[in-house]
Amino acid sequence: MRPYSIELCILTSNIEYPGSRVLLCTIEHHQVSGGAKNVDKIFTGENRCDAPGIREGNYQFANHERDQTALSREYMMNKIRIHVLTGLWDEYTLIDSGNTRKLERIGPYIIDREEPKAWWVPDRPKEIWAQSAAVQSRNGHWKLRKGTPREWIVGFKSLVAEVKLTDTSRHVGIFPEQSPHWEWLMKKTAADVSGSKNLLNLFGYTGMATLAAVSAGYDVTHVDASKPAMLWARRNAELSDLGHARIRWILDDASKFVAREVRRRSDYHGIVMDPPSFGRGPKGEIWKAEKKLNELMMECRKLLEYRGEFLLITVYNLDISALSLSNLMKDTFHGLGGVIDVGELALQQEGGDKILPRSIYARWERS
Ligand SMILES: C[S@@+](CC[C@H](N)C(=O)[O-])C[C@H]1O[C@@H](n2cnc3c(N)ncnc32)[C@H](O)[C@@H]1O
Repeated sequence: MRPYSIELCILTSNIEYPGSRVLLCTIEHHQVSGGAKNVDKIFTGENRCDAPGIREGNYQFANHERDQTALSREYMMNKIRIHVLTGLWDEYTLIDSGNTRKLERIGPYIIDREEPKAWWVPDRPKEIWAQSAAVQSRNGHWKLRKGTPREWIVGFKSLVAEVKLTDTSRHVGIFPEQSPHWEWLMKKTAADVSGSKNLLNLFGYTGMATLAAVSAGYDVTHVDASKPAMLWARRNAELSDLGHARIRWILDDASKFVAREVRRRSDYHGIVMDPPSFGRGPKGEIWKAEKKLNELMMECRKLLEYRGEFLLITVYNLDISALSLSNLMKDTFHGLGGVIDVGELALQQEGGDKILPRSIYARWERS
């Protein structure tokens, strides 16, 4: 896979320095695996801006050396970096995307399904798209080419997951863009002198983050509200040879479970969560991220206060940016110190320079 180049800029005008032309922008190229280098660059620029005291000019980047003093003051005040993480996974390829669809190879099969975020024009000709083994229609139904199964397995390092094409869900059981998180978890040191560390996975779905953590040595509590998702996760554990690993499988509403853990004065070394924008607990409890996420994060902090090392959150389908997650993290861990890392999870398209944005994430780690 080719290394890619992307520039994500955060522009804020600064009224504190009247007449200053400095804006800030941090740019990061980041690739988590495959030996690619992380590159940091910082640029200043001018912006067309109506704010008083800011000179109007054309938006334009310049080498940061041109205005280093002002930049560094500015940068220190607003220090934030947005990372773009794309994983390298030999059993998954994003072949093409566009016209609100994506063409993917998952294990041995090529599938063509909806992708609301792919607004652009596909790079590949129609004949390539026509090679897909399964096509999902706009109403979510799959049309399979003869001989294509509805279920098969796919491997990620030592983990194995079952992929399923169902007409009842738009998801197929894995979110490939999350592979950088699995890799990050698998590299953690999950034991100390007092024994294994424990990790809570909320909204655990089919369990890939749970299995990544278990394979690193964590004792994991996996929480999800859906019985079918729970059975699927348990099957993935068996397929990965982790059926007897120390996993507590909890069928419950995430908020209720966390509140109960806080009352019990439980504590965790790490928490991972992938909340949907909307969901329901097993007893019909309504989950709406914009109403409940803040409170859930605050409750999670209580579980991490004593010996917590990290919290990792991924969100998809919410009308917020990585900067919003950064603010939420800052509020949640106010006074506890640590480092916050935020960014996007994305899929690098094969043989081209397009990158498909999928979700945003934030990670707090105790320093
Ligand atoms: C599919 S994952 C999220 C993936 C992705 N972030 C998205 O939004 O589509 C969401 C998981 O949360 C679970 N879930 C939904 N509401 C829940 C709740 N109130 N408590 C616990 N789990 C819940 C679902 O069963 C599902 O397995």
